[in-house]
Amino acid sequence: MNATTVPPTLLVTGGAGFIGSNFVHLLAEQRPDARVVNLDALTYAGNLENLRELEGRANHVFVHGDICKSADVARALAACGKGPLQVVHFAAESHVDRSIQSGLPFVETNVVGTQVLLDACRARGVERFVHVSTDEVYGSLGTSGMFTEDTPLAPNSPYSASKAASDFLVRAAVHTHGFPACITRCSNNYGPYQFPEKLIPLMIANAGENKELPVYGDGMNVRDWLYVRDHCEAIQAVLERGRPGEVYNIGGHNEYPNLEIVRLILKLLGKPESLIRFVKDRPGHDRRYAIDASKMERELGWRPRYDFVTALPLTIRWYQSHPEWLQRVRSGAYRDYYAAQYGAR
Ligand code: NAD
Ligand code: DAU
Repeated sequence: MNATTVPPTLLVTGGAGFIGSNFVHLLAEQRPDARVVNLDALTYAGNLENLRELEGRANHVFVHGDICKSADVARALAACGKGPLQVVHFAAESHVDRSIQSGLPFVETNVVGTQVLLDACRARGVERFVHVSTDEVYGSLGTSGMFTEDTPLAPNSPYSASKAASDFLVRAAVHTHGFPACITRCSNNYGPYQFPEKLIPLMIANAGENKELPVYGDGMNVRDWLYVRDHCEAIQAVLERGRPGEVYNIGGHNEYPNLEIVRLILKLLGKPESLIRFVKDRPGHDRRYAIDASKMERELGWRPRYDFVTALPLTIRWYQSHPEWLQRVRSGAYRDYYAAQYGAR
């Protein structure tokens, strides 16, 4: 960068969640000069302890706010200043089981919130907007085939339907207003800071406490697992080199049935398979996801660097070496951290 170039500011929504906080850590490592503004409502899934190591950095700003509220989004944009701005939009309600219990919060944040954010960013003017979506918008696969970017959308859960709706809103902003957005659709992530309601951290946490490991249905549902670091690097590539208006599938070439993963975790932890408990299946449970990520490789030169052989043990070690993080999340104590640092929530 020459002396006259202003480093762009990045607005990250949902940066206190699992993938968002991993992405903010990656930015701190790879783009230490960039100003990062993190807009997060700190729902149950938001945890500022995920960003503890970055506290005190003058160029990392946290804005406590809701993407559904124009005034909160305006506050975050004001904190970004007037220079070039890039946006990475992670904020969402993300857990399928919760969406089956109650769909409305998913429509509010994932659909309404995305539109509020799009409107504000369009009025402000941004260099690039990356909308972080999911492979679940494509629906479910049989035993063969993969999702490509041209696979028709057929979401099956309230969560994936709300994400598909948000994808269409982003597409409409591109088509109607020439808004410079890309959409990414990624498969299941795993790694540090994942909320232990999701399969892998839940199984690690339960096994660690010798509690039962609940496996839905026959345990033969297949997901294509991607280490979160790979996902964050893929988002960086899309942010820097993605073509506006394009969709990019991101996946791990790492398909496993749930039961096999649970057995692997038990083996790595030296725990007995008798901890496995088959439970009632998730309603509408998608059978299989698999991602064709060849466009990412062809156009942006990205491919995953990790698979389960390398990154599942890494992930287990991370949870084992952060017992306090896990204990504070499981007990709910992490919810008080914001108040302790910043005053009332
Ligand atoms: P997460 O649930 O761990 O974190 C979501 C974050 O968004 C939290 O910090 C939460 O406080 C914040 N948030 C929620 N509602 C908000 C609102 N109204 N305003 C501001 N902030 C709000 O989610 P995640 O697993 O990190 O997923 C991040 C994104 O990636 C989501 O859009 C999700 O759909 C997508 N995605 C996730 C996966 C996965 O495997 N986890 C895979 C593909 C895509
Ligand atoms: O594919 C990307 C999606 O992956 C993201 O868009 C979602 O935000 C993310 O939550 C994830 O959705 P899944 O529903 O696939 O993830 P989850 O970890 O909830 O479940 C993974 C698989 O494990 C799924 O087949 C259900 C099963 N499962 C899950 C839990 C929590 C169990 O068998 N037992 C469990 O206790």
